[in-house]
This record gives sequence, structure tokens and C-alpha cells, in this order.
Amino acid sequence: MTSMPIPMSEATATVWSRWFITASLRTTPRLSTSFRLQEQGVRFQTATDTEVIAQLIAQHLNGDLMSAVRKVLPLLKGTYGLAIVSPRDPDVIIGARLGSPLVLGIGQGENFLASDPSALAGHTNKVVYLHDHQVCILGRDEWTIQDLNPDRAPPSISIEDIDWDVGDADKGTFEHFMLKEIYEQPEALENAMRGRLSDTDASAHFGGLNLDTQALRGMDRMIITACGTSYHAGLVGEYLLEEIARIPVDVEYASEFRYRNRPIERNTLMLAITQSGETADTLAALRESKRKGHPTLALCNVVGSTIAREADGGVYLHAGPEIGVASTKAFTSQVMVLTMLALYLGRMRNLSSVQGLRIVEELRAMPAMIQRTLACDDAVRRIAEKYFQANNFLYLGRQYLFPVALEGALKLKEISYIHAEGYPAAEMKHGPIALVDEETPSVFLIPRGAVFEKVMSNLEEIKARGGPVIAIASENDEEVAQQVEDVIYMPEVPEYLQPLVAAIPLQLLAYHIALLRGCDVDRPRNLAKSVTVE
Ligand code: F6R
Repeated sequence: MTSMPIPMSEATATVWSRWFITASLRTTPRLSTSFRLQEQGVRFQTATDTEVIAQLIAQHLNGDLMSAVRKVLPLLKGTYGLAIVSPRDPDVIIGARLGSPLVLGIGQGENFLASDPSALAGHTNKVVYLHDHQVCILGRDEWTIQDLNPDRAPPSISIEDIDWDVGDADKGTFEHFMLKEIYEQPEALENAMRGRLSDTDASAHFGGLNLDTQALRGMDRMIITACGTSYHAGLVGEYLLEEIARIPVDVEYASEFRYRNRPIERNTLMLAITQSGETADTLAALRESKRKGHPTLALCNVVGSTIAREADGGVYLHAGPEIGVASTKAFTSQVMVLTMLALYLGRMRNLSSVQGLRIVEELRAMPAMIQRTLACDDAVRRIAEKYFQANNFLYLGRQYLFPVALEGALKLKEISYIHAEGYPAAEMKHGPIALVDEETPSVFLIPRGAVFEKVMSNLEEIKARGGPVIAIASENDEEVAQQVEDVIYMPEVPEYLQPLVAAIPLQLLAYHIALLRGCDVDRPRNLAKSVTVE
């Protein structure tokens, strides 16, 4: 070991933005290791725990990078997904994972390492998922995967084909991936439904549930765990599953669920919802559920992701790679799959074939409805021009549209950095209505439906306090239009399908506002596409 300062150029463990490499160490060992290194004269150039790894590798480096990495990895506590590059041999990348995802992409005359296969779209279709305690070495023309423990037999390797389209990796005619993905939603919903709806059974079918009809029929309750946008899809799922399948559902933030010791009844099915299939909290919640002996299902977009592999069964969204950090098409695809799941479970319980067939037909009409909703884009842009300088927004809806209000507020927050609150419209009077003033626009989700009159009276309460209102209303609804400053129309669809269409103008509103504020729409500050650390 040397006590001389070790320049970063000796070895670098890089944290790449968005999909690339993340490493997190538990705080105590990190601090004690970094103090020890500092006492030995190492000067840290960043405040990231990843640099501790780079400095440790540099300390152990004696010509052979791989043997230094092999010495350092057993010293680390916590989770990591590492890409290690030395300037002495820049054509070689060493990868290692423990707890954080790592995927190797096999190209021709080039190989890749990423934490999410979406990052490889447009480069290669052939991937190998690394497992914990494995290391890999990549050159331009060759790659190998080894066990960290040299005494163990070489791991068996399976190369998987990912089903990308050629156009997935570029923005095409769109200015941003987010806008492209918003416009891809009709197709994404078609893909989510393809081969899964049956007129004969008046139901839906899923290939990978891995639970027989008896087990599903015997299920008394469902707990959904997820984070962020996927959590909001889960909340829509709660309304759908309770109404259509008559199954009691609880939805929990995965980050809370994983450390909570809630009593869970027998015959409870655990459902994890995740676009990436790699979110650390959702993965931990899934593992905790399995440990407790509950059957687990996952709704994932990324094929072969850790959660997709570890759940007992699951359903893929088939939405194609989602590259913009703000989730759009994954949200509507998740809601679509949850609706089909509700139909499937409902047909085992309380739904007649006539009711089932009606749902099948209504689902099939949705891609066209979404296409029609996208025509609001120009109107939404004009509204964005009016309000983009506001500092606060409220998003309000009830029943099926309450989770959509939460999602609309999240979209605005994450890409435009404007403070926004999503609320059940009727809760406003219990406190948040104090926020209403002339500078605070409220986005009201108020299409025609069972609670229309109720939402209308909530809207009037906001108007009475001078708050400007942007209404998302049913086509040609003059009554709403007369009450509000601005209106965006959505086609009339059955109430349980309103989340799918109502989400579209909210995604577009966030997009246009963020653009007008000069924000980096596809790569908002402080955010990563896959949150693979706690
Ligand atoms: C918001 C967004 C995040 C994710 C969340 C969960 O637009 O993308 O809130 O929804 O990080 O990610 P997944 O679905 O990959 O588990």
C-alpha cells in the first residue's frame, strides 16, 4: 500500500448519468474507508462514495487491473454496479455487480456495459444479464464473465435477444424522446393488448402468470408495491381491481413497505409494478414478500430485468424502450395491463360474459381514443404559454382521476421544476384551498361521469377564491367551458378508462411548460431513469 496521494488517473470508477453505473455503499464503512484513505494521503476529488472504490482499486493496482478489482470487491459493503476503466488500457472495461443491475451488450467490433438494456437500443439486440458476485471483462472483440470467487466453476451464460425496433433508439422527427414516447402511446397500448384479449372467453389471457386458475380464484386480497409513476398506475389499479374484479387492494410505496412489518393475510397476492424492473425499493419489497411466502407477480417493461426474473410470474408491458426520464407510455401501458388483469380476475368471479365482452370491446377502442386525444397538443401548448411562469400548480381529480392528478403533478415537478400538488378535489377544503390565489392555476380533471356534479362544485370553490382553472373536460362540454379560463377536451370514454386518456394532456402540459422554461426535458436534473439505489 502506498501512502502517497493517488491521482484519479490511475483508475477510475465512473458514474455515468441516466442508465449507467451506480454504486452505493453503506455510510459507515464508506466514511471510515475514506477517512483511512485520507489519512494515508489520498486526496479525494469528488464527494461521491464511488470514488472510494476507485481510490481503493488504485491502491491495490500493481499492473493488473482485474486482480486489483478482485482484491477490492470483497472489501465493499452495500450494493454496486461498476464499470471500471483504466487510462492505461482504455479499450478494456471491467464490470462487477452486487445488488445493482448490470447488463452486457454484445456488438460487432464493440461491446457495451449498461445498468439498463434501454441504453443499448440502437446498438445491439444481444444482451447478457450479469448476476450478483460476477465480474466481466470487455474488449472490443471479446468478453468474458467470471465468478468473483475464482474457486467456483465458470458461470453458465445465456445470451438473450431483445426485441427492439430500429427506430427505438432515435427521436425520429420528434424534438425529444419524451414527446416521441407520448405520441407512441396508441401503439404501446396496441402492443400491451396484442394476443391477450379473447372474444370467445370475453376475457384477457396472460402467458406468464405462473399461477393456476385455482390459486388466482382463491386469492382474497392484493397488495401492490411500486414507486413514482408506477405507484400512481398502481393506485388506478386499485380502483380497477376493486370495481371490476371485486378484490380488495392496498397500494404501498415500495420504499415504505420494505421496512414495514405489516400483517399480511393469507391468500394475499403481491404485485410489483415497475417500468425498469430494476428499482431498488421495488425489488426489496418483492424479495421481502417472497421471504414471507406470498405469491408474487410483476408488471415490467424491461424484458429480463431483475424484478421480471425474480417474481413468481408476471406480465410484460411491451411498451418498447422508454428513454425519456419522465415516464409516459409506461404509465398508460401499466394502466392498460392492470385493466386487463382486472378483467381476467373479474371473469373468474363476478363478471358475466356479456360484461366481459363489453370491456374487451371498450379496451380495443382505446388506441384510437388516445390518438384522438393527442390532437389537443396545440391547445395544450397555447395554455402552457399562458401559465409557464407560475410558481405553483394544483392538480385535482376524484375517483379514477385522483391518481391521474398525482401523476400530472409529478410530471410537472420533475421536468419543469415547478412546485405542484396533486389532490383529491374534495380534500381541498380540508386545508390546501388556502394555497389558492390568482397566481396558482388549478388543473381540474372533470370529464362527465358519476362524480361530475361533485367535481363541479369543487371547481366552483376554487373559482370563488380567484384561482384560475384549466379544465380537462369531455368533448363539447360547454357547461365546463363557461366556468373556466381554459379547457382541454378529451374524448368520452367509460369512466374506468378515463385515466388512459386524461393522462395525455397532462403529459403534454408538463412537456410544453418545461420546454418554455428552458429545461432539459429528457434529462431533468437530479433524476435517473432507473433508481437502482435506496
Ligand atoms: C417519473 C418516473 C419515476 C419512476 C419511478 C419508478 O416519471 O419515471 O417516478 O416511475 O422511479 O420506476 P420504475 O417504474 O422503473 O420502477
